Amino acid sequence: MTRIAVIGGGRIGEALIAGLLESGRAGKDLVVVETHMDRAELIASRFGVRVTHSVADAAVGADLLVIAVKPGDVDGVLTQLGKADLNGGDKDQVLVSLAAGVPTARLEAKLPAGFPVVRVMPNTPMLVGQGMSVLAPGRYARAEQLELVTDVLASVGKVATVTESQMDAVTAVSGSGPAYFFLVVEAMVDAGVGLGLTRAVATQLVVQTMVGAAALLDESGQSPEELRAAVTSPAGTTAAALRELERGGVRSAFLEALHAAKERSAEQGSGDGNSAN
Ligand SMILES: NC(=O)c1ccc[n+]([C@@H]2O[C@H](COP(=O)([O-])OP(=O)(O)OC[C@H]3O[C@@H](n4cnc5c(N)ncnc54)[C@H](OP(=O)(O)O)[C@@H]3O)[C@@H](O)[C@H]2O)c1
Repeated sequence: MTRIAVIGGGRIGEALIAGLLESGRAGKDLVVVETHMDRAELIASRFGVRVTHSVADAAVGADLLVIAVKPGDVDGVLTQLGKADLNGGDKDQVLVSLAAGVPTARLEAKLPAGFPVVRVMPNTPMLVGQGMSVLAPGRYARAEQLELVTDVLASVGKVATVTESQMDAVTAVSGSGPAYFFLVVEAMVDAGVGLGLTRAVATQLVVQTMVGAAALLDESGQSPEELRAAVTSPAGTTAAALRELERGGVRSAFLEALHAAKERSAEQGSGDGNSAN
C-alpha cells in the first residue's frame, strides 16, 4: 500500500485523511503532521492514525508527501523537508501540494534536485467524498507518479489533469466554485421565505433541488441547456423566472466573477503574500 504523509491536518487535510481511510486507499500507517495541539489530538482520536509534530519524521519512508497547509506556511514546511532524509528524484517519493497559488517551480527549487512535484487544486466537497481535484504535474513528475496521485485522490472525488498555466482558471471554476453554489442556495432560500415558506422548508426544497439537479447533470448524459429546456414550458413559470434572471444579468455576473477569481489567483501566485481561497 502507498505510504502517505499528510502535512497539515486542517479542513482540507482532514477531508483527505477521512476519504483515504474510508476508501481503504490508506491504512493506519498514514502519518499526519499537525503543529496545532488541539487539531493533532482531534485527528489522532478521530482516525486512529499517527500524528507527529515533525515533518522530517513523517517524511521518512513516505511514498507521497502531501502538503495541506495554508500557502503562507508552505515555505516553513519546505525548510523542514530540506532537513529530512528525502529520497531525491531517483526513487518514487512524490511531493503533492494542495496549497493554492504556489507554483511547482517554487516547490522544486527548495527540494533536492529532480524531486517530483504534483500541484493539486482540491475543493471542499472532498469532505464528503465528492471533491474535484485538479492536478498539474511539475517538470520532474513522471507519468506513473501522476497516475498514483490520481488514483489516491480518486478516493475523495473526481480527478482531472491540466497544465499548470491553467491552474488560475481551475481555481476560479472548481476551487472557489462551491462558494458560488452556496450563494445561489442562500439567495433562493431567502426568496422562498419571502414567498411565505418557513426557512426550514425552503432550505430543504432548495438543497434537494440542487442535489437532484446535480445528479441529473451527472447521470443523464444531457447538457445543461437540454435539461433547462426540458423544464421550461412555453410561457410557463420557469420561463418567467429565467427571463428575470437574464434581465438581472446573472450570466454576465458569473463571467465577471470567475474572471475576477482567476485574476486574484494569478496575483496570489505572483506572491502578494496574501494567498487564500
Ligand atoms: N479550504 C478550501 O476551500 C481549499 C480549496 C482549495 C485549496 N485549498 C488549499 O488547501 C490548503 C489547506 O487549507 P485548509 O483550509 O485546510 O487550511 P487550514 O484549515 O488552516 O489547515 C492547515 C493546517 O495546517 C497546520 N499547519 C501549519 N503549518 C504547519 C506545519 N509546518 N506543519 C504541520 N502543520 C502545519 C495548521 O495549524 P495552525 O492553525 O496552527 O497554523 C492548520 O491546522 C491551503 O493551502 C489552501 O490553499 C483549500
